[in-house]
Amino acid sequence: MSFLEEIERRKTFGIISHPDAGKTTLTEKLLLFGGAIQIAGAVKSNKIKKSATSDFMDIERQRGISVATSVMAFDYRGKKINILDTPGHQDFQEDTFRTLTAVDSVIVVIDVAKGVETQTEKLVKVCRMRDTPIIVFINKLDREGKDAFDLIDELEEKLGLLVRPLSWPVGMGQDFQGVYNIYEQKLVLFRPHSKQQGDGSIEIKDLSNETLDNEVGERAANKLREEIEMINEVYPTFEKEDYLEGLLSPVFFGSAINNFGVKELLDCFVDIAPTPLPRITEERKIDPTEDKFSGFVFKIHANMDPKHRDRIAFLRICSGTFIRNTNYLHVRKEKKMKFSNPTSFMAAKKTIVEKAYPGDVVGLYDSGNFKIGDALTEGEKLHFKGIPSFSPEQFRYVLNTDPMKSKQLNKGLLQLMDEGVAQLFTKEVGNRQIIGTVGALQFDVIQYRLKHEYGASCSYEPVHLHKACWVSCEDTTKLNAFLSRRKRDIAYDKDKNPVFLAESAWTLQMAQENFPDVQFHFTSEY
Ligand code: G4P
Repeated sequence: MSFLEEIERRKTFGIISHPDAGKTTLTEKLLLFGGAIQIAGAVKSNKIKKSATSDFMDIERQRGISVATSVMAFDYRGKKINILDTPGHQDFQEDTFRTLTAVDSVIVVIDVAKGVETQTEKLVKVCRMRDTPIIVFINKLDREGKDAFDLIDELEEKLGLLVRPLSWPVGMGQDFQGVYNIYEQKLVLFRPHSKQQGDGSIEIKDLSNETLDNEVGERAANKLREEIEMINEVYPTFEKEDYLEGLLSPVFFGSAINNFGVKELLDCFVDIAPTPLPRITEERKIDPTEDKFSGFVFKIHANMDPKHRDRIAFLRICSGTFIRNTNYLHVRKEKKMKFSNPTSFMAAKKTIVEKAYPGDVVGLYDSGNFKIGDALTEGEKLHFKGIPSFSPEQFRYVLNTDPMKSKQLNKGLLQLMDEGVAQLFTKEVGNRQIIGTVGALQFDVIQYRLKHEYGASCSYEPVHLHKACWVSCEDTTKLNAFLSRRKRDIAYDKDKNPVFLAESAWTLQMAQENFPDVQFHFTSEY
């Protein structure tokens, strides 16, 4: 197969949802279709149960599972599909944001009864910022839920998506009879106990055909006719181009656990989802078809084996061909590196990768050389954009509780920050260190990992902060004036960029009003 054909056949995407909507179940059904796994249950739920927010063993288990399921690849209808896993737990949301930088499209799973939930809102917002093409799958149709039209309205209102149903449910819960596949114009009947897909598929090009009445009953048939007519009148015609530009999202209905509506989703996905897209760097746009290899690290995972300190850096290939045992430039470190064991992970299986193409993700064993966002190239000095840190929401002072181990503590903290577990800020006055995180669970993870991996102990002291915002100003004199006036509220991030620590929403607003030329940013990339 030629290089261009390899690129053309790849589709790299992520599934996002609020916990419990059915992301793991859907992933598993997709893998079953692709023959990547043989039995249900092979992909363990990667979520930490909500009731056990600080159970360390759960955190450890989570780390193990999420390495194994970081990238799940399978072949389907001649395409190579890469699913990038995203953590379900909201405290690990920043990991999900970063993983979304490495995908080319997403599928959003919504629970029919719960509708659009908070975490979905946040994640979709990030996708929309980048115009990532989005397909929506409304799940659990075997249960009673919200009215389909109300759900569609919710998608538009809460997620700001312009949508186009490509399948439509016939009944719901007890009365759920199947879905009408608008995309392929056929009715697919739900047989809850057969757990088979495809047995109930009937082609109905013309909905006025009485086969429809015979199959679902007159009442349901008429309702479906009316609804489909309304959909065709109200919603825009589906154009693949609009979807690819992130302007229009097709919507599917089904029940992942019953493997119902999943094949329709997958078939449409394979037809319309984008092949590897270009990536933006500070220097220029990188096209996947370029000969020379380039890629960036979007995720770093600590090794679970405490005897081996090395970590796994996940690299998304952006252009050219990545070849095992070849020297590449680590741009930030300005050093050549080669990798003898680039790995792909699939359920419990690890495989050494000889070659990888744009859209693929490889795991590189790393002894501390990589940070999130690092670039590997054949020599060009590229800096990938769009992999920001997000303004944290929880803060604590970190204290060393074992003075003999301060070196270990510093090293451990820096490495954990490189992995993107949390962010470290050093206060301008007094040099105290503050850890900022998105979720509370990370504080426990840090303490636990410092002890087990670095032999260092730390404790925390509360610090009352509302937000940390990066600050900038075109006029350096004005920026310096601000930094010196607000000295006590200034800290520096790991890259020595100034950050304003706002005690409350009000202080932030006052600072913005009093210093109108200074810009306050909620992500590290501005
Ligand atoms: P997540 O990864 O998004 O967090 O969700 P997950 O797939 O783990 O699904 C959450 C729960 O919803 C699971 O039940 C799962 O079996 C169920 N589920 C998924 N799809 C459907 C569906 O189409 N219909 C119905 N009725 N349920 C569905 P659980 O009881 O939390 O876990 P388990 O004991 O079944 O594993």
